[in-house]
Amino acid sequence: MFYHFDRTRVAGQSESESFLVGTILPRLTGGRFLIDYPFIMNRNPHVAVVGATGAVGIEMIKTLEKRNFPVGKLTLLASARSAGKQLNFKGQDITVQELTKDSFAGIDIALFSAGGSISKEFAPIAARAGCVVVDNSSAFRQDPDVPLVVPEINAADVKKHKGIIANPNCTTAITLMALYPLHQAFGVKRIFASSYQAVSGTGAKAIEELERQVSQVVNRQPVTKEVYPHQIAFNVLPQVDSFLPSGYTKEEMKMENEGRKIMHHAAFKASVTCVRVPVYRSHSIAVSAEFEKPVSLETARAVLKKAPGLDVVDEPANQKYPMPLFTSEKYNCEVGRLRLDCALDNGLCFWVSGDQLLKGAALNAVQIAEELVK
Ligand SMILES: NC(=O)c1ccc[n+]([C@@H]2O[C@H](COP(=O)([O-])OP(=O)(O)OC[C@H]3O[C@@H](n4cnc5c(N)ncnc54)[C@H](OP(=O)(O)O)[C@@H]3O)[C@@H](O)[C@H]2O)c1
Repeated sequence: MFYHFDRTRVAGQSESESFLVGTILPRLTGGRFLIDYPFIMNRNPHVAVVGATGAVGIEMIKTLEKRNFPVGKLTLLASARSAGKQLNFKGQDITVQELTKDSFAGIDIALFSAGGSISKEFAPIAARAGCVVVDNSSAFRQDPDVPLVVPEINAADVKKHKGIIANPNCTTAITLMALYPLHQAFGVKRIFASSYQAVSGTGAKAIEELERQVSQVVNRQPVTKEVYPHQIAFNVLPQVDSFLPSGYTKEEMKMENEGRKIMHHAAFKASVTCVRVPVYRSHSIAVSAEFEKPVSLETARAVLKKAPGLDVVDEPANQKYPMPLFTSEKYNCEVGRLRLDCALDNGLCFWVSGDQLLKGAALNAVQIAEELVK
């Protein structure tokens, strides 16, 4: 049996001042715990970062600070391995605590980035404790009760949340930053795409693996593998995530499935090959998109120049185009290599690059949290 709370939280009041209204209604929800409206977020919320010591978690802490998110209190959670470790936020050292079922009392917003199994287990517990979860894993992205949000595209969906909001797949989010404005102008039918995904997309251990393997190769030592099935240094791996019976990987199908949900475009089709490359940070995607309406380069460029969160870097004559080295640690994604597709009717090719730890994870999650406190 699960419980359905009608909860109201009063703007500007702390958790202790906030209160529950209505009755607790027993409700079978297939395992989901739902919070009904009206839901008013504390303006200075108590925020928890779950997975605070990971590649995304560290960026979440930095992003909360850099964007001056109105954090009332910050709680940092990770596994027992990290309990006691200290991380800095706004000049103060905060001690990391072990994540447990009791971690969420008094917390308003929990930013989860500790993997799908942790999200599946703890996000419903957090929602039941009354906080809104912004989840970076794929655990809830296709759940009809869970909004999947890129704020520049479908910020209004945040309001439909029932305790959990999902952050999209990083490659999908970065691609949509350029594709969605073009879709609004020309109506996208389908895309063919290849991704060039950085090792930090796999987490902190993969960054160490690339660093170690580069050193091993350069020093003519035997190469050791822990994270990827093959050597990633001086190589590219045409596999991201596990294979499906169709021959695509799970990662590759996220573009179509998540793209449909975020763009509210049920007929959108995407054929994608995802490739891991020996780059530390920032994913890049080569896209050929086919549209309903005829495309002009001039209009496409004008549309992309106006798009929020996106910079057009497209001066082929001067060898200027987006590159992961230069989109790393940058909030905006970059698009370039714009050209009419020579093999598709109404087709446009482009190359988009963005920091997947930021727009593909931490930044997008904090932007969602910003929508919650608006
Ligand atoms: N990396 C990206 O670019 C990216 C982009 C979008 C989404 N995501 C998603 O974000 C999540 C985290 O990715 P990441 O790259 O940050 O991974 P990561 O660097 O491996 O970090 C994992 C984090 O989860 C914590 N954790 C692991 N097991 C735990 C447990 N049993 N209880 C509590 N905390 C636990 C780790 O804590 P310890 O340090 O204590 O082990 C660490 O803080 C994943 O779901 C991933 O799919 C990642």
